Formats: sequence, structure tokens, C-alpha cells
Amino acid sequence: MSLLHKRLFFWSLFIAFGIYTVVVFTDDAGDDMGAEYFTQEAANGKLLYQKYNCTACHQLYGLGGYMGPDLTNVMSANGRGEFIVRAFLKSGTQKMPNFNLTDDEINDLVAYLSYVDKSGISPVRDFSINADGTVEVFSNGAKE
Ligand code: HEC
Repeated sequence: MSLLHKRLFFWSLFIAFGIYTVVVFTDDAGDDMGAEYFTQEAANGKLLYQKYNCTACHQLYGLGGYMGPDLTNVMSANGRGEFIVRAFLKSGTQKMPNFNLTDDEINDLVAYLSYVDKSGISPVRDFSINADGTVEVFSNGAKE
């Protein structure tokens, strides 16, 4: 390879790297889809979710403990919703502890779970593998 070819090769790789870097860092995939639902109440609820360590037993977006159910879409799931969520938070069950939450705390947690519900779905990605080995993605974490 002549020196000219080496230089050409180097600079074409260098330019490709530059273009790729710009594309990756200007892609909007990191946008928070539920940002408009992240109210002050929801922010308080997030802190309470951490304070009471709900994540020890529950998953959000598929991550967390597995003793209780995934809560990502509990606010909109069939047969669930705000009424059920409030009931669990108010009284607990034999398996879910009663944290003796105040009404304000329950409101904040409900606001946080509403924000989570509107900002994504769980399972975050749903795949199926076709007979020819290709993979199909049914959902990509975006709420329709
Ligand atoms: C010690 C484990 C544990 C902790 C900590 C915990 N939970 Fe639970 N939770 C459970 C279990 C287990 C269930 C299912 C209970 C049942 O069906 O009787 C549940 C059920 C629920 C449900 C009803 C979900 C459904 O679809 O039925 C909600 C809502 C909920 N928890 C919210 C919370 C929140 C919010 C926190 C934090 C303040 C929390 N949990 C902390 C174990 C826990």
C-alpha cells in the first residue's frame, strides 16, 4: 500500500468516525417520554418509592425484586388501576407490608406510578424468534 493510499484510508476512517459520533450523540432516543407527567407530586413519590424500598419486591420496567408484581403499568392494567393501588398502599396484604403511609404519601406514590405508567411499558422489549433465526421486536418501550 502506498503512502497516499494509507493516508486516504486513515482519513476516510477518521471522517466516518466523526459522522458516526455526531449521529450517536444527536439521536433523540434518550428523551423522557413521560416528562410532562413528572409533576412535583410524582417527584415526591419517586423519593418515597426509594425511601420505602419498594424496589426490593417490585420491578419497574422489568428491573427490581420479584416478590411482588411489576408495577410499571399497574395504573392502566386491566383489573388494576388507581383504586386497587390505593387499597394496597393503604392496608397492605398478607404478603405486602402495610407501611402506614399518610394520605399525602399515597397521593405522591400514585402520581409517581402514573408517571411511570405513561412513560413506558413493561416488559420493556418483547421479542420473538422466527423459524429462520431472525428476531422480531413487538414493543420497544414506547407507550402507544
Ligand atoms: C416486602 C416486599 C414488598 C415491599 C417492600 C413492597 N411491596 Fe407492594 N406488593 C408486595 C407483594 C408480595 C404484592 C402482592 C400482594 C398480594 O397479592 O397479596 C404487592 C402488591 C402491590 C401492589 C398491587 C399490584 C398488583 O398488580 O396487584 C402495589 C400497587 C404495590 N404492591 C405497591 C407497592 C409500593 C408503592 C411499595 C413501596 C411503598 C411496595 N409495594 C412495597 C410486596 C412488597
